[in-house]
Amino acid sequence: MDFFNYQGDTLFAEDVAVNQLAEQYGTPLYVYSRATLERHYRAYDEALAGQPHLICYAVKANSNLAVLNVLARLGAGFDIVSVGELERVLTAGGDPSKVIFSGVGKQAHEMRRALQVGIKCFNVESEAELDRLNDVAESMGLQASVSLRVNPDVDAQTHPYISTGLKENKFGISIERAEAVYLKAAGLPNLKVEGVDCHIGSQLTQSAPFLDALDRLLDLIAKLAEQGIHIKHLDLGGGLGVRYDDETPPEPSEYATKVLERLGDSDLMLIMEPGRSIAANAGILVTRVEYLKPTEAKDFAIVDAAMNDLLRPSLYSAWQNIIPVVQPGADAKTSNYDLVGPICETGDFIGKDRELALMQGDLLAVRSAGAYGFAMSSNYNSRNRAAEVMVDGEQSFLVRRRETFEQQIAGETVLPA
Ligand code: LLP
Repeated sequence: MDFFNYQGDTLFAEDVAVNQLAEQYGTPLYVYSRATLERHYRAYDEALAGQPHLICYAVKANSNLAVLNVLARLGAGFDIVSVGELERVLTAGGDPSKVIFSGVGKQAHEMRRALQVGIKCFNVESEAELDRLNDVAESMGLQASVSLRVNPDVDAQTHPYISTGLKENKFGISIERAEAVYLKAAGLPNLKVEGVDCHIGSQLTQSAPFLDALDRLLDLIAKLAEQGIHIKHLDLGGGLGVRYDDETPPEPSEYATKVLERLGDSDLMLIMEPGRSIAANAGILVTRVEYLKPTEAKDFAIVDAAMNDLLRPSLYSAWQNIIPVVQPGADAKTSNYDLVGPICETGDFIGKDRELALMQGDLLAVRSAGAYGFAMSSNYNSRNRAAEVMVDGEQSFLVRRRETFEQQIAGETVLPA
């Protein structure tokens, strides 16, 4: 459920008309709904109320400071994959003791900063990383809390680019090796083994792969206990899918409830790292039709958003719903459009084969754009990055100014004369 609905013929974000936002802030424009973010976070939090738990929002999905701040105010933890994400969390008022550090390539300076601010745990992805973390912690006279990211070898049945829990993926430590690596970790003096972690992929639309992974991790935790290694928390990663089209993923509450059933009366702290299921449907991308270009083969609508603003359609052939900001009259003639951006690439499209009634200057909203939207944007074709707005009831706040050309080139210089 989200808070982007029509009132009459006009799309609203909570209580603000989206066409007014486009007038005020320009396009392309990301619009987020605070109420939707909060609702999605609470769905997890309430479902897990009976179990010690921590919901670590995956910052990579949408790292705007206002988004992080809204979640921090609700008591969220954060899953980070770089020191940049850590600094964002701190700047947004997040609690470092609720931060989990994931990712296969952590550098020593990133570890140092995370130890300095006292994060909750490192999700370690290789034996070499264990050694480096132990060295860094030793040099600071500290102990680092660790989980191993275990690769449980389950098929997440999602797009291959976002499936991460199979043997052939670069992520994690294979479940067969896990016990041996845990023993190694337990023997390193500057590490404290605290948890077991996995993340099997993204945009999963069924609970079964999560539950398979959970069963394997619970077996591992039992085996570790026999070896004298007592695990305090179990991190199931993120990955719960959302509805872009006709998918029917379980609701966060349904998924969380199934996980709790499996845990029984265990007092393990349960950690989850949801990104998409919190942010995706809390955002839209508003774009304006620049030109209509009917050709013999196709009708194109050239819009002012492009693959640099929203990469998912180009990169994953992802389908996102595209709806008019103001609905046309019932007798308006529709055509089958490819909605394409101004970038000089054939792969620059936002949507293909959409039956819409369009005129030059019309506004469109790309739905489900709150996750992996702005976060994956770039300056390709020297386009300034879009503005971001957060709506809260009847109010709207500019939470990132539209980039200017001066900002775009700020770090660049030419060679001396
Ligand atoms: N935890 C870890 C360790 C992750 O690698 C990810 C996502 C998450 C949590 C959050 O997963 P989520 O709940 O959002 O599914 N750019 C792609 C998605 C890449 C996901 C990468 N890892 C897309 O636009 O579909």
